[in-house]
Amino acid sequence: MSQAPIPGLERVLFTGEQIDQRIREVAGEISRRYEGKPLKLIGVLKGSVFFMTALSRQIEVPHKIDFLAISSFSNKSGSPGMVRIAKDLDDSIEGEDVILVEDIVDTGFTLRYLLQTLAGRGPNSLSVCTFLDRNSRRIVQVPVDYRCFEIPDRFVVGFGLDHNQLYRNLGYVAVMKP
Ligand code: PRP
Repeated sequence: MSQAPIPGLERVLFTGEQIDQRIREVAGEISRRYEGKPLKLIGVLKGSVFFMTALSRQIEVPHKIDFLAISSFSNKSGSPGMVRIAKDLDDSIEGEDVILVEDIVDTGFTLRYLLQTLAGRGPNSLSVCTFLDRNSRRIVQVPVDYRCFEIPDRFVVGFGLDHNQLYRNLGYVAVMKP
């Protein structure tokens, strides 16, 4: 059964084939760099789940996976960018080579908080791999070691990214109409 057209969709930005190809390339880089190392992928719920599983399946070295969830809020004075862990990792990352896997990096607030938090837990190394990078919205500078695609300053859905929690399951990435 084919899926009904998505209302409000403007155009497809990356097809399923383009995504598969790019994930294979990034997974290849990771496989070469982490050969023989205790690699763990950490996914940030919920958006990264689709990218994380696709990436994991293409990585050719043994590795573990774990997940955490965060919630974002504004403080009393209304400052944005406050983040806290809503569901923590199941296991320690001490001595492991960790790659934090995100679906998208926007302002960088989430990533900055997670990197600071995880760095304090004694991993051997800590890197970042994101499916999409919307660098034009960056407010705080954060290191991104692997990225599949840089995207324009537009609202996108699919492959984990949602609109009101819908469309995460699309096998492509699409731009919504303004
Ligand atoms: C998205 C994404 C990142 C964060 C990036 O999560 O997964 O965690 O926003 O934004 P930032 O760079 O501006 O901090 P979201 O809050 O949409 O939750 P979701 O993954 O459950 O969709």
